[in-house]
Amino acid sequence: MRNLLTASVLFLSFSIAAVAHAAVENTAVQARMDAMKAIGGAMKTLGNMAKGSVDFDATAAEAAVDVVAVQSAMLPTLFEAQETDPMSEAKPEIWTNWDDFVAKANAMTAAAEAVSIVDAGSIGAAMEAIGGSCKGCHSEYRM
Ligand code: HEC
Repeated sequence: MRNLLTASVLFLSFSIAAVAHAAVENTAVQARMDAMKAIGGAMKTLGNMAKGSVDFDATAAEAAVDVVAVQSAMLPTLFEAQETDPMSEAKPEIWTNWDDFVAKANAMTAAAEAVSIVDAGSIGAAMEAIGGSCKGCHSEYRM
């Protein structure tokens, strides 16, 4: 009985790992996920500096904001075709409300271009200014 239990626990964790590592098959979907991941990574860098778990570095902070600005400016192109992939979390409403989706992407680019980070104390406000756009779009267009 115990062996059976161990075996099924092992099988279960193996299955979960397999799902987590399943590859995205559609390269266009992978490209737009990569852009989002880069944006997420940049926000994490800023968050770590704001928390103080990473020392404030003006150059690195500006570089992170640039990543958000540059990657978000590419979103309208990256999402233009309604590609599908089992791993994609993009909702079909993106393409039925395309102008709104583009407006939300542009708003993120504008927010990232407008912020200025001069010290660790100004990161919080910058993240808030950019962060609102993440939620605004994800709540409608991400599964
Ligand atoms: C204009 C809409 C829009 C904005 C703005 C937006 N996202 Fe996304 N994001 C999406 C969509 C759509 C997906 C799902 C893409 C897919 O799976 O095909 C996504 C997926 C992601 C993912 C998962 C990527 C992966 O590996 O699958 C992360 C992380 C992410 N976004 C972070 C952010 C952060 C951080 C911000 C704000 C700084 C942000 N996003 C702003 C639309 C947006």
